[in-house]
Amino acid sequence: MNNHIWRPLYVVLVIIAFFLVLRYFLVPQDFGVHGVNFTYGYHRAGDINDWQAVPIKYRGREFCNECHPDNAAANASSKHAAIQCENCHGPAFDHPEAPEKLILDTSRDLCLRCHAALHTPSSQRSLIKGIDPDTHNPAIPCSDCHNPHKPDLEDMQ
Ligand code: HEC
Ligand code: HEC
Ligand code: HEC
Ligand code: HEC
Repeated sequence: MNNHIWRPLYVVLVIIAFFLVLRYFLVPQDFGVHGVNFTYGYHRAGDINDWQAVPIKYRGREFCNECHPDNAAANASSKHAAIQCENCHGPAFDHPEAPEKLILDTSRDLCLRCHAALHTPSSQRSLIKGIDPDTHNPAIPCSDCHNPHKPDLEDMQ
């Protein structure tokens, strides 16, 4: 065969060889394709351990209930029942060891991300009761008047 056929073929062979060498070093040894067959397919066995080592940040309401039963009961029986504690107080991690306390955010912004009235309602978010922050008791923290754990209007004094 002519040279002009062989030369590009060599280039292709070198590229394939380069790819195989690179692959040998880059694909982790516990990746499925290194096994005798494809039992574990495209899966890295060590992935499970990696995920187990990720610290749990969010603990869920049941966890809070152990030590803050009053807040948990109020929250569960209120219009905020669907809102997890950690949505407002941040991730609990190993609280009360670390952190000893969680955030108490009394800013209006905490509530306004859900309750600022939408002017162009386009999603389910607009079904949440909205107020205009500029006219609805401006500058006063919402939690001075509304109980964040039981915000139901009929329970307001
Ligand atoms: C094992 C018991 C325990 C669990 C479980 C627990 N807490 Fe606490 N929490 C405490 C203690 C103790 C404090 C400190 C009390 C204090 O100084 O008033 C605290 C403080 C707080 C504070 C700050 C109160 C303040 O006055 O500054 C918040 C907010 C809070 N916890 C929320 C939560 C939430 C939300 C959860 C669930 C994700 C939770 N806690 C789970 C025991 C617990
Ligand atoms: C909608 C937001 C929101 C949710 C949901 C929420 N909290 Fe709170 N929480 C607050 C705010 C704001 C304060 C501060 C109130 C203040 O000081 O006026 C507070 C105060 C607290 C405090 C300290 C004062 C107190 O009442 O003892 C604890 C403890 C607490 N929350 C626990 C919880 C737990 C447990 C849950 C879930 C069952 C929860 N919170 C759900 C917003 C929220
Ligand atoms: C000075 C007290 C006070 C403050 C501060 C306050 N509110 Fe209100 N809010 C009320 C009262 C009273 C009502 C019931 C009467 C009404 O609808 O105006 C109400 C009603 C609401 C309603 C129901 C609206 C409806 O369509 O029925 C929402 C939602 C609300 N407030 C959210 C908030 C949020 C979020 C903040 C903070 C950004 C806040 N409020 C600050 C007193 C207050
Ligand atoms: C993650 C979203 C979210 C956050 C944050 C949030 N809320 Fe709500 N809130 C809701 C939902 C959902 C409802 C129930 C639907 C409704 O009534 O609009 C509700 C209902 C209410 C109501 C109406 C209760 C009634 O009887 O109709 C008030 C008042 C209220 N929230 C106040 C607050 C205040 C004050 C804060 C801040 C401390 C806050 N909310 C933070 C989602 C949120």
